[in-house]
Amino acid sequence: MKTFQIYNVHEKKDFPLLANHDSGNKQIIYLDHAATTQKPIQVLDKLNEYYKNFNANVHRGAHQLSAKATDEFEKARHQINKYINAYSDKEIIFTRNATEAINIAARSWGEFYLKENDEILLTLMEHHSNIVPWQLIATKNKCKIKYVGINNEGELDMEDLKSKINKKTKLVSLVHISNTLGCCNPIKEITKLAKENGALVLLDACQSLAHIKVDVQELNIDFLAGSGHKLCGPTGIGFLWSREKILNEIPPFLGGGEMIEDVFEEKSTWAELPHKFEAGTPAIAEAIGLAEALKYIKNIGLNNINNYEKKITQYLFNHLSNIENLHIIGPSPTNDQNRASLAAFYVDNIHSNDIAEILDSKGVCIRSGHHCCQPLHRHLGIKSTARVSMNFTTTKEDIDTFIIKLKETINFLRINS
Ligand SMILES: Cc1ncc(COP(=O)(O)O)c(C=O)c1O
Repeated sequence: MKTFQIYNVHEKKDFPLLANHDSGNKQIIYLDHAATTQKPIQVLDKLNEYYKNFNANVHRGAHQLSAKATDEFEKARHQINKYINAYSDKEIIFTRNATEAINIAARSWGEFYLKENDEILLTLMEHHSNIVPWQLIATKNKCKIKYVGINNEGELDMEDLKSKINKKTKLVSLVHISNTLGCCNPIKEITKLAKENGALVLLDACQSLAHIKVDVQELNIDFLAGSGHKLCGPTGIGFLWSREKILNEIPPFLGGGEMIEDVFEEKSTWAELPHKFEAGTPAIAEAIGLAEALKYIKNIGLNNINNYEKKITQYLFNHLSNIENLHIIGPSPTNDQNRASLAAFYVDNIHSNDIAEILDSKGVCIRSGHHCCQPLHRHLGIKSTARVSMNFTTTKEDIDTFIIKLKETINFLRINS
């Protein structure tokens, strides 16, 4: 049990909303980190520092404020590069969120590259953000989307993937860690299969970046999408990573200021990477805030986070699996597996929205619904699930309180149904 006491209690103090927030007389227990993380004081202070001391537009004015803002903004890009082990800063495109990052890949790469009858391989566990952009392109370019299924353990069915990937497959686009099943997909194995068939791989890393080391070179992927707000950073900032060669070959996403080299009356030429993909004034404060968040996570250490989260996840599962008629979807945690620190579950004859609403009235924040994974829920034959999602700030006491209140809630709903 030696490693079980680490980080959580200490780190919670850094998060004003977690440490101070009261709902009536009840301290809030926030168990919705997969939807968005809370922000540590270091990030909030950095946002304030930017607006108070060096707010200016980037890459434009010749004055000192603009120079300082540009310097910090580009340092933020470099921080992301290091965080995911990219090859260069030019490969990091700032976006509003992961959804926008995937849309850039779909519109700039997909629309340019995909031909009639080409195939895109997705999985049934994808977030809508990694389905809808490809549907739009598939319709436009007359190509086909195939979905890899889920096995009985609630993990990706690798045999199904092997049977569906072929020389027509031009892209495998999938989630690293599922926001609903919690499973961690074997990306290296998938990348190998994709490359053997001449396909590129896009990784939706929304649920992995804050929990495990993600190394784009080691995984040998071609695109990665991330969201700052799931990494203890601000909302309104995310990023797309891709290889310089790919980004140089494909057309820009949006047109406007900043992304051009020269504009003539009849045509324009594009700026160097990464600016070619960043039209207009970017989210400067948010990018700088995200860099501070990454620094914060690095200081704790992803290994420490991962070790802690494995234990707290096991603890949650031990308690949840003792509740009668409660079913967790997705695989059970094991020590050698990077299962997400979350559990999506349903209780026979009780609607998950009712569970979440009553828990909310007791000061416990969880999520309910389809978690933007309608095809997955439909496939499992479930309308909705309740989802509790943790991170390194979650304590055993939080889980103890949650379990007590969940049992009260289920009993109440059983008696009144
Ligand atoms: C797995 C996954 N992909 C994509 C997204 C979309 O992220 P965003 O809304 O920040 O673009 C989410 C958000 O919940 C997610 O969990």
